[in-house]
Amino acid sequence: MTQPQCTLPIGIFDSGMGGITVLKALADTLPQENLLYLGDTARLPYGTKSNDTIGRYSRQAAGKLVERGIKMLVIACNTATSAALPLLQKAFSPLPVLGVIEPGAHAATAATRSGSIAVIATEATIQGGAYQKAIHTINPACVVTARPCTLFVPLCEEGWTEGPIVEAVCQRYLGDIFCNKPDSPDTLMLGCTHYPVLKQALQQVVGQNVAIVDSAASTAEAVAQWLAKHKLLCTAQGEGTRHFLTTDNPARFARTGSLFWGKHLEAEDIELIDL
Ligand code: DGL
Repeated sequence: MTQPQCTLPIGIFDSGMGGITVLKALADTLPQENLLYLGDTARLPYGTKSNDTIGRYSRQAAGKLVERGIKMLVIACNTATSAALPLLQKAFSPLPVLGVIEPGAHAATAATRSGSIAVIATEATIQGGAYQKAIHTINPACVVTARPCTLFVPLCEEGWTEGPIVEAVCQRYLGDIFCNKPDSPDTLMLGCTHYPVLKQALQQVVGQNVAIVDSAASTAEAVAQWLAKHKLLCTAQGEGTRHFLTTDNPARFARTGSLFWGKHLEAEDIELIDL
């Protein structure tokens, strides 16, 4: 008997652990859904690579999830969303494919009072300009300051999320933007799914009056709305399954993944795959 479509998992991928921040928001918003996560750690980072390479890697990662049977694909990576959203929507049509940039832009425009927003992300995301465009589509009056923060992803993947070294790196990237000038941004958009684990350190640097937003909760909300509208919400009782795939080193994935997931993961919980 074939599995009813609503009980198929939602497929979620990122280059590494960052997308677990989105997975967590999905598990909180839609606990009954089955979730299948792939972290392409063998090829991380995506954010310093060319759009062609990011597109190719994203297609392969998404293809692996599609092969297993999913009812929706969530690109839990801003870099892959920026470089490959239309490509994946076309390649896997009619499967619904959602990215994190539009929901993130909605969260940022809802949070700002002054209209001045700083977006931090990987080099590829900032160069692609997708956040700047998405924010201006929602509110053309917003002023957007965009800054790549390349060292943040390796820090997060190493599990370094607080302390003087992390704060010094945050200060180096953001000190000149948030320096108490009257026109300093009042909102910091975390345009990379890794960055939420740095929130405390970032708040120290940008000040308590700056709102720090990410795309996890608004993406989970967009997924919930889409599934409800298309009558594809999982109706099974109880908590859904959470299954993790990685392309390299399950023990390392379990160690750092636990930090992002907020729950203990064992290497045995992580399935090693090849793309
Ligand atoms: N988590 C990814 C993002 O949201 C970036 C990580 C990477 O550079 O691979 O952009």
